[in-house]
Amino acid sequence: MRLHPTGKFDNHATTYRHIEVKPLSAAMGAEICGAHASHVSDAQFEEIAHALFRHKVIYLRAQTLTHHDQEAFSLRFGPFAEDAYTQGVLGHRNVHPLIKAAADSSEMVFGEGWHTDSPFLPEPPAITILRSVEVPPLGGDTTWANSALAYAMLSDAYRGMIEGLKVHFSLRDVLKSTQEAVEVSDSPIGRLAATRDSAQLSEDLARKIKGHSHPIVRTHPVTGERALYVDPSYGIGIDGMLPEESAPSLRFLTEHLTQPAFGCRLRWEPAMLVIWDNRLCVHQAYNDYQGYRRELYRTTVRGEKPV
Ligand code: SIN
Repeated sequence: MRLHPTGKFDNHATTYRHIEVKPLSAAMGAEICGAHASHVSDAQFEEIAHALFRHKVIYLRAQTLTHHDQEAFSLRFGPFAEDAYTQGVLGHRNVHPLIKAAADSSEMVFGEGWHTDSPFLPEPPAITILRSVEVPPLGGDTTWANSALAYAMLSDAYRGMIEGLKVHFSLRDVLKSTQEAVEVSDSPIGRLAATRDSAQLSEDLARKIKGHSHPIVRTHPVTGERALYVDPSYGIGIDGMLPEESAPSLRFLTEHLTQPAFGCRLRWEPAMLVIWDNRLCVHQAYNDYQGYRRELYRTTVRGEKPV
């Protein structure tokens, strides 16, 4: 299904007193100006959080930060989440390197395929914060899709039909494609790919493959906004349905959600800080910058059991 913009789209900026906001697309996204993440006042932080929930993904330019600065900024939103993929960088357990070397010719990149972060966990990360250090001269963009807008654009009849359903999320399919397509290396998916050489699954991996089921429509704990909680990377079924019933439903919902009209695309610059709310959007990275290094660092904020 492809829908044209209607009156349900509203990504206009609100007037704030301590920051300035410049919307990115009609559907979502905004640049935050007039703040530096290493010294954000309480009043600024309150407005930044408000802008995040309104625009779903926000970004700040010219943020030269240390790992410590990123940790401190991230902690303003809440405690760190469990990261499903990395153990952090030396001395900073909660700062996760997302680095693809120029020489890495893997056919898959970390974050490829539309997804919300780690929905196979019982309490998936609420917010993700990604900081760029080095980015390719072209390619390596990230795209997001607004899952609250996608929910609002469904018909009343369809919304009624999916109310109360739960999606089963698992690492199963991502693990399989990673093992098939990625070079073994010291990177989040390089290490995942290396599990193809293990005779037995680790307990941790088995837990993530078993996964968890969460409501297909979730309610944001702060704003009460309702949004689709579904993705084509980790969503492998709908509880209580046969695979031949759930597959077309999931396909329809993820195609509806990820249609270009509901999204935005960010061209990275070095020293950007990007923040998104996994409860209100899905995102994807692209493997289109071979021959160039891309170096980003991620922190995630602990989420709640989706309801
Ligand atoms: C992610 O999925 O968290 C990574 C996004 C990116 O590298 O652009």
